[in-house]
Amino acid sequence: MTAISRKLLPDTAAVGHDGMLEIGGCSVEELVEEYGTPLFVYDEAHLRARCREAVAAFGPDRVIYATKAFLCRAMARLAHDEGLLLDVATGGELHVALAAGVPASACTLHGNNKSGAELREAIEAEVRYIVVDSFDELDRLDVLAATGVGPTPRVVLRITPGVHAHTHEFIATGQDDSKFGFNLANGDALRAVDRARRSDSVELVGVHCHIGSNVFDASSFAKAAEVMADFAVPLDLPELILGGGLGVAYLENEEAPSIAQWGSVLLDACAALGVRSRVSVEPGRAIVAAAALTVYTVGTIKEIPDLRTYVAVDGGMSDNPRPVLYGSGYESFLPRALDAERELTVRLVGKHCESGDVLAFAAQVPSDIAVGDLLAMPVTGAYGHSMGSNYNKITRPPVVFVADGEHRLVVRRETYADLLATDLG
Ligand code: LLP
Repeated sequence: MTAISRKLLPDTAAVGHDGMLEIGGCSVEELVEEYGTPLFVYDEAHLRARCREAVAAFGPDRVIYATKAFLCRAMARLAHDEGLLLDVATGGELHVALAAGVPASACTLHGNNKSGAELREAIEAEVRYIVVDSFDELDRLDVLAATGVGPTPRVVLRITPGVHAHTHEFIATGQDDSKFGFNLANGDALRAVDRARRSDSVELVGVHCHIGSNVFDASSFAKAAEVMADFAVPLDLPELILGGGLGVAYLENEEAPSIAQWGSVLLDACAALGVRSRVSVEPGRAIVAAAALTVYTVGTIKEIPDLRTYVAVDGGMSDNPRPVLYGSGYESFLPRALDAERELTVRLVGKHCESGDVLAFAAQVPSDIAVGDLLAMPVTGAYGHSMGSNYNKITRPPVVFVADGEHRLVVRRETYADLLATDLG
């Protein structure tokens, strides 16, 4: 296997004069000296470039960053500064966005089972709109309105268009058999529109769909746009939101459409179908995934002759559960040897107490890999840190943003004291 290809690395990745990987003009080795491993390193220029590409493709106020992919206050601020709105899927995500200084009017609230408290907070904060997912949620909004909670929220209805996206079954959401949204096929979608239009508790401003995540096939998006346009055009509502879901390449042999290509597919389809509503999208992964890599230290190498070599690093399923959850593949390389051939196949594992704790089932690494080496895994910027856990009472890794030769810690490493912060003894 050849050297890691640059297309999987953050935009500013380069080899420094000492041969060591640099991102944002910062040597990865020096970052590790300061912050330790495991460490999430985010390339700020890369994040901003993807935000700008999305705004250029869809227009200002038409790109809603799905914060579930990666959220901390620095990220919320960065996305907001770049002209993105924020999709928050829980009261907790809303809390972090507001704590970052992002106005509620730039946040949209999602969730298939929002609590009364979450809805109340969103209404009182005056979020841009609430994406309503079910008849029970409409009931809850009626109850809140009857108890005087206001102002009247603007709502968008999440429609399940019956389009099956080609992706992992756990992250496909557009098919009829889904916990999300009002099904188009059985008439629920139209019943929900009628009810919302007649209701005094809400102001209906649009419809929404999201067919799934990590979708590579642009035709799935075009199909969803077509189904939604058929439904939305006669309704003549101001907003049509076509969700997120654009896939990214994790592996050498993968190729995903760019944000600009995604924009043309969706907007051309909408124009051809006579859509007059404002068309918005909600990308998460496409903005943040390739902007970051995780740096680990190799701690143990176990060679079982004629069977397999295990390379164990100091993190694992607690900082990246995606391989375990979805069988997702990742590349890996040594930051000290960016251009080295990776001719050794190993199983890259973490330090958790189970055999399933795998980061890469068949990782290609240089054959001189040794205990003490730094090992980097690219494209970990989405759904890694955000889905992290404290399993085995591991302290969650820090996040550092790098740009123009400067680094700033935006999330510190958890401490043992943090592990006891909610434990009342
Ligand atoms: N909008 C809605 C309503 C969503 O549910 C999602 C993702 C997005 C936008 C953003 O999708 P993206 O552009 O990031 O694909 N944990 C899984 C992904 C779950 C996605 C859930 N919803 C993974 O690691 O692949």
